[in-house]
Amino acid sequence: MTAAIEAHQLTRRFGKFVAVDHVDLRVEDGELFGLLGPNGAGKTTLIRMLTGLQSISEGSARVAGVDVRRDTAALRRAISVVPQALTSDLDLTGYENLDIYARFFSVPRAQRQPRIEELLKSVELWDRRQDLVSTYSGGMRRRLEIARGLIHRPRVLFLDEPTIGLDPQSRHVIWDLMRELRKGGGLTISLTTHYLDEAQALCDRVAIVDRGRIVALGTPAELKAAVSGSDTLEITVDAPISDTLASAISQLPDVRKLDRADVQLTVHADGGTRLLPRVIEVLSAAGIKVLAASVSQISLEDVFIHLTGRSMRDNAANSHDARRAGLPRRFS
Ligand SMILES: Nc1ncnc2c1ncn2[C@@H]1O[C@H](COP(=O)(O)OP(=O)(O)OP(=O)(O)O)[C@@H](O)[C@H]1O
Ligand SMILES: [Mg+2]
Repeated sequence: MTAAIEAHQLTRRFGKFVAVDHVDLRVEDGELFGLLGPNGAGKTTLIRMLTGLQSISEGSARVAGVDVRRDTAALRRAISVVPQALTSDLDLTGYENLDIYARFFSVPRAQRQPRIEELLKSVELWDRRQDLVSTYSGGMRRRLEIARGLIHRPRVLFLDEPTIGLDPQSRHVIWDLMRELRKGGGLTISLTTHYLDEAQALCDRVAIVDRGRIVALGTPAELKAAVSGSDTLEITVDAPISDTLASAISQLPDVRKLDRADVQLTVHADGGTRLLPRVIEVLSAAGIKVLAASVSQISLEDVFIHLTGRSMRDNAANSHDARRAGLPRRFS
């Protein structure tokens, strides 16, 4: 079986500007794959090339086994795109919006009604099916559009920023929906986001995109582990720690850096949960009691800063795109 998404040296230029720069990518069937990056990183352009909506300057791609440059009709049947901008018809009801798509994709008449019912129920809009979409909230519209994207049972679903601008509750409804979709098996989901918590909560693997390139790729845990000293142990003890003791702890395997202030010990390490019991052992052998301890992991945001030297937010706040989209900064 071919991979769900395969891209080789995929490139898109706008004049001299390289929006997507020689990207190689392979996403396996059934994966929930995240494309993460700040505004203007090239995520949408990459998705648009993979879905046949934008021409390719250089390189090639196959999605659901279809060469995206060759067979647009086959590509349309095999995939679905829920774009960044909302596109459902405001003057129609939720049901009618799905019905039009079902007809467009030639879903047989007998299957149309049950399929629409199943989908509207799965996105919790069945009760609102007869209401005009103009009366829906942003979160409801987004859910409707995801349901619409599934009408023809695509093999690969592309979601571009599906939770942008939504309140936390609506975001979580969409997260639950994506988790449900995964359970069915078979469906591959490509999710574009610049919300790091979203990528961390949902994705099997994440590609971090910056300035048209994939700068890191792996599971969220792998990406975090790639940063040396990515775990932080905070330990509070009952007596000040001597130099000898601090140096003994520094020499434990996995320890990268140690800071101490009176009875507070901060250890930067790889594999923090593994290390904690050993630190406690060393301390108690010296007659020191641990009063409190915690292990925290760095976030994908920290990984991004580590890789690029900039925060995603700084980048987004300066972005022309964010302003053009009229989005408040906190959503950028
Ligand atoms: N049609 C176009 N003509 C010229 N430049 C473009 C065009 N489409 C995109 N770009 C530029 O390509 C770069 C990548 O844009 P793209 O929309 O792919 O980014 P993105 O990662 O999706 O950003 P966002 O998070 O804001 O959606 C940006 O600098 C953008 O201005
Ligand atoms: Mg985009």
